[in-house]
Amino acid sequence: MKKHRILGAVAAAGMIALVATGCGRGGTADPAASDGAQEPGGSGQIVGVAMPTQQSERWIADGDNVKAQLEEMGYSVDLQYANDDIPTQVSQIENMISSGAEALIIASIDGTTLTDVLTQAGDAGIPVIAYDRLINGTPNVDYYTTFDNFQVGVQQATSLLIGMGVLDENGERTDVAGPLNVELFAGSPDDNNATFFWDGAMSVLEPLIEEGVLEVPSGQTEFEQAAILRWLPETAQDRMENILTIIGDTKLDGVLSPYDGLSIGIISALTSGGYSTDALPIITGQDAEVGSVQSIIAGEQYSTIFKDTRLLAEQAVAMVDSVLHGEEPEVNDTESYDNGEKIVPSYLLESTIVTIDNYEEVLIDSEYYTEDDLS
Ligand code: BGC
Repeated sequence: MKKHRILGAVAAAGMIALVATGCGRGGTADPAASDGAQEPGGSGQIVGVAMPTQQSERWIADGDNVKAQLEEMGYSVDLQYANDDIPTQVSQIENMISSGAEALIIASIDGTTLTDVLTQAGDAGIPVIAYDRLINGTPNVDYYTTFDNFQVGVQQATSLLIGMGVLDENGERTDVAGPLNVELFAGSPDDNNATFFWDGAMSVLEPLIEEGVLEVPSGQTEFEQAAILRWLPETAQDRMENILTIIGDTKLDGVLSPYDGLSIGIISALTSGGYSTDALPIITGQDAEVGSVQSIIAGEQYSTIFKDTRLLAEQAVAMVDSVLHGEEPEVNDTESYDNGEKIVPSYLLESTIVTIDNYEEVLIDSEYYTEDDLS
């Protein structure tokens, strides 16, 4: 398998209809297993899977996919959700270690808070795979699998610009000169991904802000001002309401939102603040959650970023299986993810911009959702 990285904003825009190709649905990191002839890896070995929250569909899908795929290979799975509470996640991982887990797959809540518990894992020789979110400040994380998070941010900004007409569908600049009014939201500051999304998005938006094509009427252009702790929709709603108070009658053309849940909060604030649902600004998102895809179909939210959790699960499972067989997992990035202690070898997958124009092809044809799911 080869990684097909999208190379820049323009390319990303051109990829609007592209389905993630990081690896095929039935693929696995072990070429010998690609004909499905791989021996069951597990023989009942326990793998602990720590997920952050069930408040967002994507993590439920991640947990379900990882569990099902591991079980199919003969592993026993201890899947736990921590309700976005850090001490709960730490004690869940402690319990996994003490009850005999032989490998751990962890999607952290706060990537900096697992150092002590992962020392216990390291001392016990238990391999640790960071799932989707990097775990920082510990040498005891062996591999990382995620999407190309910087590129996700590039795609979010690109779709914002396409939606506002600043770029055409091929990612080429149009003659729209603005100034267009946009507000900017970022993810949770304790999630390593949030700065990658932001940096990716700002690599596209900042030059246009400098050029005067875009204006941020609130003046809030720093990550710290835009960040929403724990990715909470209510916090995004509050911030959007405050911004509307600050900017008064200024009409917004776009809102950069890095996650569907935040977009829902933002849309609530906008509709309570006088925007009608058929005249909302262009609003982005991430995760292709059902409610937000429905909102896209209804013409409210403009876009989301689809990250195929089936493929991410497949990578994590392949990594665990390789490590437990004494083999080196396949990686495709050994530079981007420095956790403060080491550069964690990573496998990055591709994501896809989804709008009303391609949701059927990307989400239904790929059987991620059925038509009924979205109606
Ligand atoms: C994930 C995103 C998700 C966000 C909120 C991030 O770490 O990469 O897919 O939208 O967390 O759950």
